Amino acid sequence: MSDRISEVQSQALEAINNASDLNALQEVRNTYLSKKGLIPALMKEMKDLPKEEKPAFGQKVNVCKQEVSEALDKKQQELEVAATALKLEKEKIDITLPGDSIRIGTSHPLMLIQKEVEDLFLGMGYKIAEGPEVEQDYYNFELANIPQDHPARDMQDTFYIDPNTLLRTHTTAMQMRELEKAHGQTPIKLICPGKVYRRDDDDATHSHQFMQCEGLVVGEHVTLADLKGTLEFLANKMFGEGRQIRFRPSYFPFTEPSVEVDVSCPFCNGKGCNVCKGSGWIEILGAGMVHPHVLEMNGFDPDKCSGFAFGVGLERVAMLKYGINDIRNFYINDARFLKMFDRFD
Ligand code: DAH
Repeated sequence: MSDRISEVQSQALEAINNASDLNALQEVRNTYLSKKGLIPALMKEMKDLPKEEKPAFGQKVNVCKQEVSEALDKKQQELEVAATALKLEKEKIDITLPGDSIRIGTSHPLMLIQKEVEDLFLGMGYKIAEGPEVEQDYYNFELANIPQDHPARDMQDTFYIDPNTLLRTHTTAMQMRELEKAHGQTPIKLICPGKVYRRDDDDATHSHQFMQCEGLVVGEHVTLADLKGTLEFLANKMFGEGRQIRFRPSYFPFTEPSVEVDVSCPFCNGKGCNVCKGSGWIEILGAGMVHPHVLEMNGFDPDKCSGFAFGVGLERVAMLKYGINDIRNFYINDARFLKMFDRFD
């Protein structure tokens, strides 16, 4: 009888040993240890034994049960560890694999230009000012020396919201706000980039909305030569070293003298090409010395200080710099056009 026990035990241990996964092991456990399993069945056989053999038999079956149960637990642990390891292996992430590329937008070319201009002037100690696009007639015109019925009002076709409120036609409005805010205190050194609006029909060179950057410097002994040096620096940085600039006399109500500024053509180096229409020069901005009357109206003494100002169209700069021939490209948001500028980002 005791051989039967040893046989069941060794069969059980072998089955445990051969169980290759947790399911198979559970089956072994059922076969040997469940209520109707082989080891409890041995126990039941005890009742047919002579009385004196019962204790030894019972003890042996118990030992057998214990050893099988221990072997099952040990194997179960091993299989669980192996199963976890397998799962981890299967779920392993190779962090060296290339990721899914996510398409992100790029900076708009006008923002690139704006940032470039801003960086340039910040480097020279200028402040950056911002102001409203919905502006009062007072700042856009009156303080800029363009009173009601002044013929210069016709120079800029204006979107009026009501008789005193308009969409600013130039960033010069911001120049006036900043002059007023300074309460006659110098020095002032700032630029103001921003959107402006005019009642223009859109075509390749006109847009009813475009961007300007205003520049303003006021202090003691600020001269036209300072303006020229500053604009020469700007031209060289924006269009490449070796650019020259020239001043042509012009008229703006808020500056005296006023100049139109040309830069030597960056495409032909001034020799003459179809971009500069053979002249070797390209007009890029308007500028001048702040009109004494403007200084006065804003609380400055024109005998004690002077200033220069300029206003540059950012589309014009971007068109020249990137060789874009239609201003509408900036506003129709064709992704193919915008995408071309990701390398400048
Ligand atoms: N406000 C002018 C325009 O929009 C540009 C301009 C010219 C600005 C001369 C200035 C300046 O500050 O001094 O056409």
